[in-house]
Amino acid sequence: MQLLTAKLACLVALVAQLDLTNAVKHADFKTCSQSGFCKRGREFADRVAAAGPAWTPEYELAKDTISLNDGVLTATVFKTVDEKDGGKVELPLKMSFLVNSVARVQLDEAKRQKGEIELRHDSKARKERYNEAEKFALVGGTNYDVHANILNSDEDSTKIRYGWDGQQVVIDYKPFKISFIRDGEVQAVFNQRNFLTMEHWRPKRELKEGEEATVDESTWWDESFGGNTDSKPRGPESIGLDITFPGYEHVYGIPEHASGLSLKETRGGEGNYEEPYRLYNADVFEYITDSPMTLYGSIPFMQAAKNGSTVGVFWLNSAETWVDVTKSKKNPASLSNEKQSTHTHWMSETGILDVFFLPGPNAGYVYEQYSDLTGTTTLPPQFSLGYHQCRWNYVSQDDIKDVDRNFDKFDMPYDVIWLDIEYTEDKKYFTWDPSNFNDPLSMQKQLDMRDRKLVVIIDPHIKNDPNYSINKEMNSAGYAVKDKHGEKSFEGWCWPGSSNWVDGLNPNAVTWWKSLFDLKRFPSCSKNVHIWNDMNEPSVFNGPEITMPKDNLHYGNWEHRDVHNLAGMAFHNATYGGMIERDGPGNERRPFVLTRSFFAGSQRTAAMWTGDNQASWEHLAQAFPMILSQGIAGMPFAGADVGGFFGNPVPELFTRWYQSGAFYPFFRGHAHIDAKRREPYLVDEPYRSIVRDALRLRYQLLPVWYTAFQRASKDGMPVIRPHFVMFPNDPEGFGIDDQFFVGDSGLLVKPVVKEGQTETEVYLPDDEPYYDYQDYKVYKGKGWHKVHAPLEKIPLLVRGSHMVPRKDRHRRSAGLMKFDPYTLVFAINNEGKSGGLLYHDDGETFSYSTGSYIRKSYSFDGRNIISRDFDVPDERIDPAFVDSMKNVRVEKIILVGVPDDWKDKKTVTVTDKEGEWKVDLEFKKGEKGYANVATVRDPKAKVAGDWIVEL
Ligand code: NOJ
Repeated sequence: MQLLTAKLACLVALVAQLDLTNAVKHADFKTCSQSGFCKRGREFADRVAAAGPAWTPEYELAKDTISLNDGVLTATVFKTVDEKDGGKVELPLKMSFLVNSVARVQLDEAKRQKGEIELRHDSKARKERYNEAEKFALVGGTNYDVHANILNSDEDSTKIRYGWDGQQVVIDYKPFKISFIRDGEVQAVFNQRNFLTMEHWRPKRELKEGEEATVDESTWWDESFGGNTDSKPRGPESIGLDITFPGYEHVYGIPEHASGLSLKETRGGEGNYEEPYRLYNADVFEYITDSPMTLYGSIPFMQAAKNGSTVGVFWLNSAETWVDVTKSKKNPASLSNEKQSTHTHWMSETGILDVFFLPGPNAGYVYEQYSDLTGTTTLPPQFSLGYHQCRWNYVSQDDIKDVDRNFDKFDMPYDVIWLDIEYTEDKKYFTWDPSNFNDPLSMQKQLDMRDRKLVVIIDPHIKNDPNYSINKEMNSAGYAVKDKHGEKSFEGWCWPGSSNWVDGLNPNAVTWWKSLFDLKRFPSCSKNVHIWNDMNEPSVFNGPEITMPKDNLHYGNWEHRDVHNLAGMAFHNATYGGMIERDGPGNERRPFVLTRSFFAGSQRTAAMWTGDNQASWEHLAQAFPMILSQGIAGMPFAGADVGGFFGNPVPELFTRWYQSGAFYPFFRGHAHIDAKRREPYLVDEPYRSIVRDALRLRYQLLPVWYTAFQRASKDGMPVIRPHFVMFPNDPEGFGIDDQFFVGDSGLLVKPVVKEGQTETEVYLPDDEPYYDYQDYKVYKGKGWHKVHAPLEKIPLLVRGSHMVPRKDRHRRSAGLMKFDPYTLVFAINNEGKSGGLLYHDDGETFSYSTGSYIRKSYSFDGRNIISRDFDVPDERIDPAFVDSMKNVRVEKIILVGVPDDWKDKKTVTVTDKEGEWKVDLEFKKGEKGYANVATVRDPKAKVAGDWIVEL
């Protein structure tokens, strides 16, 4: 009977997944008022706010408990509670002052820490508050600043100085509050509004007969939603904190939400949301745009920006989390300099309170500080920056071969073709469907001829079939997530039907999972196969909110509720590890892994995409703010399904989507199984040619993308960058999220995302000349400019000051472009100068880490173009690699915006260590409103060499 019910539930879920007529099923997902702790958290905040100064603060730091040693301050905070609960609850506080100027605040609960609590329902769950999220999220940046010292301490507060720039922190005792000061100004305050919450442990007390409840305990001891009951063996244990950013008008980050880049207010009012931003990784089917609803991944990292300053807050907690955002209004009548401030209220269901303050002072520093902690994006293999062709599903190996041939036939470049779940035998991963994929190697071989790759999907649900060896191995070794009793593997429903889930938190399970990618174990798989991890929120069709019950148990007996948001990352990390091991020591190639679920730190091993969007203009427009949010949250390798997953895009939408997609860091066309075939060559003319141009533009600019990714992999700077990052002193641009810059290239893009649009307005943040990428029309003057944007045109400008490196030969894949010559385009600024960087390595191995790369700076000072190594000590560069590049030339230099008197220049002199020679210069006078352009063809300069072109 139970099996029948589960089967029915699965069927309903499957039908729901295939029903394309409705938008998101709101009823499947909780609102704040349906999530016990969020409701309590908001109600508490409202009570405190309503009481105003009359509120008696509950939390107080005991001054005599403070001690500061070697960069770490410890103290005890006491929470005042009912006498019957003991009157006071002891909360150990640890504040760490870190050498990178970051400060960390951790608050725990002594009783739970010591395990002095009783669990209900004979649960085997851990008693402590979860404190291991750092094991998965952090990779460094936590060295203590041993010079942190107390500046002064009195009856009310203690002031500490730390960090490289004399940052200060003031800790007020009662009410307990922490203020972070930089440059003499308070940048953020924790608990300014007294919303701090740590729901302390207490035993469940049954009401005596006739006794009335004094508080609403209805969500304390168990909680039901959508027919599922969560047993909550530890009772209420949520945490909460308000964080205020005084004078900061914008906050950004905390992806993933289908909403704008600058976060909206969430407590109602015109144009605002009613619900907090939610972070609870979930398979939100047919998600809607402009909504704070949760989606597939979460990164609890927020930035606040005001004119000239950016700071960050990282809330290290992997349980369900909600964040309210409100702004205090400027008083228009006020004569004071008062600015708008942003207030945030963070609420998590469980775990310790663990928050980092990142002092900036600008976005670049914030990203460095965040990368110090969670790591940077891995440098992707170069092929993965090309175009990816996917659909659910390519039906057979012949289908794949056919699509591959058609790309060539229609002269469209692409690098990767993908297989969705149907390639397997009955959704058993690491197997091939014996009828349609009976010779997978032949397909991989064909792809390899053009240096192309195959990506196959491998999900974390393992078919519960006693004859499936992988399931047998997993269950007999105890590597699956357990149900709430902790004895048996949890059983739920997903694509294969009844399934169990591999536990990525279990180190032994991870070792085992990695071994599955060995080419001896994964049959008919070769080295040009890479991996897609989907459904790893995890998606459980018959589970609460389409995911796992929160009382399931993971390795170490941590409840699923504690680790929910990082479980998907633990899984894709294991996959990445398997791929590294697959190629064997010394032969490692950079793996490509795509994940749908993610957490802080996911950037180290995977790319992400925004899940199941729809073939609509709203979803096309929504994609960029989402991708920008990912980038500023440290995970820049991001994209959205080009064309829209659900539905069938009309040709105009399809074309505009490819033009947008060409500027997604991760560029993949994908479609639902019921969508019509839509490989880019299938669309009619003139669309086909326009789509081809978009693909070719992507390949032409691969050097720009690769250079931008290399920087991101070093210091965390996003690959596509919004205005607030690029122009921190221009708050007018802080709200813009439909145009952005690509790396340091000066390329400013504003793809058209509206139907029928043939003109758009682009915002220029400064007075430099901006040149149209195609025809060199000049736009100048801070403010909005109309840009012509007929269907065949992507509004794309280059900011004067920057050099754009390109590869102009049309090839079939990125791999085939490896030794192609470069074109360098210098966009000249108001001072007559320009310059930029180019990074290049073998694109596939890790040998760049031992010096096999070039990083060149090409600068134009008005008279000379100088090529030299950038910021790399000579001895680190491997001469053998430079030698391997000796035949790679600069085939063309284009200078845009040269003065009129260049018309008389006929030749230039090129000098390198081998000699000096003359080359022709061609001058083209720009029509009115267009730039003059000078071109030097074939200067015979090596891209890896040091040389000077005298003009
Ligand atoms: C859900 C993913 O979001 C989608 O991209 C994929 O095609 C289906 N799962 C089937 O695997």
